[in-house]
Amino acid sequence: MNSRLPGTETDIADQELLRRTTGRFREALIELPTFAQLADPTKIPERIRVALRDVDPDSPHPLNLFRVHWYNAEDRRGTQALPAHVILPEALTGVPSPIVVALGDRFPMIRAHKVLAAYACLAPRLVTGRFDPTRHRALWPSTGNYCRGGVAISRIMGCRGVAILPEGMSQERFRWLREWTVDASDVIRTYGVESNVKEIYDECARLRPDPTNVILNQFSELGNHLAHRSCTGQALSHIYETMRASQPDLHAAAFVSATGSAGTIGAGDLLKERYGTRIAAVEALECPTLLYNGFGDHNIQGIGDKHVPLIHNVMNTDLVVGVSDRATDSLNVLFNTGAGRRWLADERGLGPELIDSMRHFGLSSLCNVVASIKTAKALGLGKNDAIFTIATDGAEMYATEVEKTLAKNFPAGFGATAAARVYGQHLAGTSTAHVLELTRVDRRRIFNLGYFTWVEQQGIPLDAFEARRDPAFWSELETLLPKWDALIDAFNAETGVGA
Ligand SMILES: Cc1ncc(COP(=O)(O)O)c(C=O)c1O
Repeated sequence: MNSRLPGTETDIADQELLRRTTGRFREALIELPTFAQLADPTKIPERIRVALRDVDPDSPHPLNLFRVHWYNAEDRRGTQALPAHVILPEALTGVPSPIVVALGDRFPMIRAHKVLAAYACLAPRLVTGRFDPTRHRALWPSTGNYCRGGVAISRIMGCRGVAILPEGMSQERFRWLREWTVDASDVIRTYGVESNVKEIYDECARLRPDPTNVILNQFSELGNHLAHRSCTGQALSHIYETMRASQPDLHAAAFVSATGSAGTIGAGDLLKERYGTRIAAVEALECPTLLYNGFGDHNIQGIGDKHVPLIHNVMNTDLVVGVSDRATDSLNVLFNTGAGRRWLADERGLGPELIDSMRHFGLSSLCNVVASIKTAKALGLGKNDAIFTIATDGAEMYATEVEKTLAKNFPAGFGATAAARVYGQHLAGTSTAHVLELTRVDRRRIFNLGYFTWVEQQGIPLDAFEARRDPAFWSELETLLPKWDALIDAFNAETGVGA
């Protein structure tokens, strides 16, 4: 394993530090879940599942670590047999392929699956003696949800967690951060909006010389990729296998993922290995970095960060799809206003349950839906070709964005005519423009673009950067998870919590 890439270590760096950490966790009664348990919560011991019944899913309670998975029930307290998902029908999408959307807003504390990425970046550091919760501050550079996940995990661990995010992110994110951070200085606002990731990195560079700061960069931490490959990939695979049991001809044709850190898209690697599923990376048309080496501001919060993340397995990606934020902003209004919902019921004949389920779709989730439609059209997929995608967070994170779009784009009000126009333009009329089926040359172009961020700017050694071109790098990476799980088991045994 190329140990010069961040977060790939499995050796113990500092025994004394590790001893202090286990001591701290013993006192605070913190037990760590293994990645195997998060991929399959039936492996979580019964004593923990019973204890969880009395734990508020939105509190910084240590047991909430055992809810960092896709199988939470609707009340977010218990679990259910299959991950929560919605299957979007042709009446809504205009394409015959079922679009299967896994719901991320049941994850604990932040109501978004990014808490999984945060745990996956910190846990290996903890159990290898590389993070001292009594001394270190965990720095979480992000455009919103990952840093909230990081702050939540830090609170549980009793260490300082610092969110670094652009000042232009949604008010809902900042409100949450105000409530969860210990000190106002633990929220650092950098210049810009969603796509201003370089400015976040600059802030990290400013803070790095302080040895008490540990930067957990989701864009380069391979734990993020691995957790999604195993946990999100397994969750989607489970949904697919269950659907196929009653529909044997169903093919897992595509996995569609709007990429921010490109952690989630790692789930596609597992689906491709098992079913030959094609993998589509999605970005905002206003910031088409993968499509056109482009740049720009946009409002699909959580994605499209003007660079190619180090953890993106580019050579395994099959399509790139651009979606405009005009579509996602407008659909956010269509699905989250009375007039929009009425129109969907009256004119499209959609049932109340389906319409209600749209509250689980935040802006990037809507982007994933539109991209799935584009993918279905571009690949000519039919009714036996299921498309899998993710709703990272729900609409509640963007209520103020509905107000903004209404004021900006619908000054005369949003009624049935406007709803019909939005539906026609952004769902029924979705075209295959800005969809690129990647050739080997395209993949090389995108892969090479990453050089400028990672080697020139962020100091990743050239051979470590290059190693990621080879599929063997990614399959070898998978050997890390069982090693980390063994270290987590040893860590828990040392703390004695739960023994
Ligand atoms: C709302 C939202 N959608 C999508 C993503 C992209 O997920 P990933 O970073 O795993 O590519 C993020 C990432 O932060 C996000 O917050």
